[in-house]
Amino acid sequence: MTVDQPTGFGPDFLWGVSTSAYQIEGGVTEGGRGPSTWDTFCAEPGRILNGDTGAVACDHYHRYAEDVALMKDLGVGAYRFSFAWPRIQPAGKGPANAEGLAFYDRLIDELLAQGIKPVPTLYHWDTPQALEDEGGWLNRDITDRFAEYASILAERFGDRVPQWITLNEPVVLTLFAYGVGAHAPGKQLMFESLPVAHHQLLAHGKAVQALRAGGAGNIGIASNHAPTWPASDSAEDQGAAAVYDTLFNWLFADPVLLGRYPNDDLAAAMPGPVAEDLAVIGTPIDWYGINHYSPARIGAAIGQADTAASDGIEIPSGLPFEPRELEGYPKTDFGWPVVPEAFGEILRTFQQRYGDRLPPIYITENGCAINDGPGSNGVVDDQRRIEFLDGYLRSLAEVVAEGIDVRGYFQWSLLDNFEWAAGYSQRFGLVHVDFETLVRTPKASYRWYRDLIAR
Ligand code: NOJ
Repeated sequence: MTVDQPTGFGPDFLWGVSTSAYQIEGGVTEGGRGPSTWDTFCAEPGRILNGDTGAVACDHYHRYAEDVALMKDLGVGAYRFSFAWPRIQPAGKGPANAEGLAFYDRLIDELLAQGIKPVPTLYHWDTPQALEDEGGWLNRDITDRFAEYASILAERFGDRVPQWITLNEPVVLTLFAYGVGAHAPGKQLMFESLPVAHHQLLAHGKAVQALRAGGAGNIGIASNHAPTWPASDSAEDQGAAAVYDTLFNWLFADPVLLGRYPNDDLAAAMPGPVAEDLAVIGTPIDWYGINHYSPARIGAAIGQADTAASDGIEIPSGLPFEPRELEGYPKTDFGWPVVPEAFGEILRTFQQRYGDRLPPIYITENGCAINDGPGSNGVVDDQRRIEFLDGYLRSLAEVVAEGIDVRGYFQWSLLDNFEWAAGYSQRFGLVHVDFETLVRTPKASYRWYRDLIAR
């Protein structure tokens, strides 16, 4: 194994891996779990590639101890996972489901026994279907339901969970789930989906307060961010890229970090008493989580959209911008450009934009779909993932050396898993999963990451 690995991370830097409930757990009808929007969506013909569903996924619901053992062997200090809201409250409201709580007790206790810090996310897109039936994230009521759910979690796990995440990637729920309909619940509301952004942000703020009131602390959010690169120097492309950048990055980060929307038009598009809500949304957090994969190349809408840049999803017409292919870089098997320097760029942009208002940062996701499977010798030799991680971690080390306060890095993902609309076709894991037998096989990248952490 090469010793020439990225360096420059201090002894306290937190190395972790991440997953989410619907993508790995399976057991969707077990332990009193209620249906989620993803169960419903997967059952609709044509929604998910190959008709895949998360019904079994990695069967982590039953195999969690084996998965924690893999993390122990990997040497990670922390594990980011998510609570399935419909396991805790099957209909999204009312008393907690004892069997659901008991599952996360077992997982958390096993992690702690192995010396791994649990870092749970409250919400990673699996809305209880009963709440969706009442309007889901378009209905302001969900923000109070979310605060109640947060209180249940704080009361039960606050003594053992040292670090918390409210939401995962609110832009994706807004845009993919309610804007263009590629994720559950599959609504195509375009700009009418903006209330989903506001309600998630408000739910985040209320959850921060509810968690703290329940005795839980060290709270952040996991938001995805990426540099937006205009397709050309033309005024049209520059303008389109600026609109996109505002909607994708600052619509979500500004309210949380500054307590305001990036512009008055967006504030005016939001429902409810927006000024009052922003005071809740801007409740100070302890740290900010960034998920990062690839930069976006954006041009004015002229019918040259690159669907690979949107995960193969057709973007309905009517938007003022469109993603364009970023040429000249290697691509992952999902078609995402591999651009290590963009990782450093987005972190520098955050430092410049927020200055003293920026709390410590954790990288809550970063990784790549590389679909290598076992060779005839049984070894999964995923060298392209190693190259990806090497490049991205060198870029991260540069910004750490510049003094940007990044405290940890969670690789996405521990396991190959259910990649939403792409089903099981895209493999993001350090550990290969055979979805017929559910056998786990650590890949070459797992050994590379283990060596890096050990060093
Ligand atoms: C974003 C999401 O949080 C996660 O669920 C997804 O699998 C990865 N990034 C890769 O697309």
